Amino acid sequence: MNTSDRRRIGVVGYGELGQYLVKAIQESENLELCFVWNRTSSVLNGKIDETLILKDLSDFPELNPDLIVEVAHPSITHQYGTEFLKHADFMMGSPTALADKELESKLRTAATSRGLYLPSGAFWGGEDVRKMADLGTLKALCVTMKKHPSSLRLNGDLRARNEAVVGDNAVELYNGPVRQLCPLAPNNVNTMALAALAAHNLGFDGVQCKLVADPKLTDWHIVEVEVWGPGDISAGTAFHCHTIRRNPAQIGKVTGSATYSSFFSSMNRACGKGHGVHLC
Ligand SMILES: NC(=O)c1ccc[n+]([C@@H]2O[C@H](COP(=O)([O-])OP(=O)(O)OC[C@H]3O[C@@H](n4cnc5c(N)ncnc54)[C@H](O)[C@@H]3O)[C@@H](O)[C@H]2O)c1
Repeated sequence: MNTSDRRRIGVVGYGELGQYLVKAIQESENLELCFVWNRTSSVLNGKIDETLILKDLSDFPELNPDLIVEVAHPSITHQYGTEFLKHADFMMGSPTALADKELESKLRTAATSRGLYLPSGAFWGGEDVRKMADLGTLKALCVTMKKHPSSLRLNGDLRARNEAVVGDNAVELYNGPVRQLCPLAPNNVNTMALAALAAHNLGFDGVQCKLVADPKLTDWHIVEVEVWGPGDISAGTAFHCHTIRRNPAQIGKVTGSATYSSFFSSMNRACGKGHGVHLC
């Protein structure tokens, strides 16, 4: 921590979420903006004080951040995650990056003196899921995300399947383990990645998910979480919890509106837990 009482925050990415966080940090009494980096730095001109614009992200240690917040793309963590953790706490906005086993292992190893923080985002009940995973009572977990096709940023076959969605009918684009979906929808399924990290006894291969493109969802992002605990799942006598989160979202947006304030709360909680990996 720096000598000033205010925590120095570096923000990586100046899209919708980055702009929201920068404004919230500047309005906060407890936080101080120490840098903003964006892939195209000209976007920041006139909006961010020149002294706070970081042109080359590898120069971040010179600005002495307490916490670095990534809200750009999973590729940032691939490139800089371990380096960030040598100098600061790191809150990863795009945890889909951790579907890469090698990267997950590298980051866990790197988080030995600073904390790697994972924001709950749109994942409702994350602490409960983690408690069940800790106790070994979590038996199965399925996350279903439903969005308008224009909110989906997809790669590979899924992109073509999404582009082929016509009319009003919802189409299930993917049904399977979280691990394979993350690289195909890196910007859209952070919630599922977080579920796989919270449900650590099942992980990216054990947590199941469904991604649905629904042309009727012009005002909402929907996340359904189904958890099964002890008992006989096939007989319908196991513990079961099913939540449905309807998050207002403008058509075409990656991030639903309640997720912005959730992110800001997570950022405020991303401190003081020491080294290791923490949900926040
Ligand atoms: N954890 C969660 O629950 C959650 C929720 C919403 C968004 N997110 C993630 O946060 C990130 C930002 O979301 P947003 O709504 O602000 O998106 P956005 O599209 O509005 O902004 C993304 C920003 O990152 C930049 N960017 C895109 N690709 C990049 C790359 N390869 N390298 C560097 N910069 C790149 C863009 O230029 C833009 O400035 C996304 O990765 C998104 O998936 C996570």
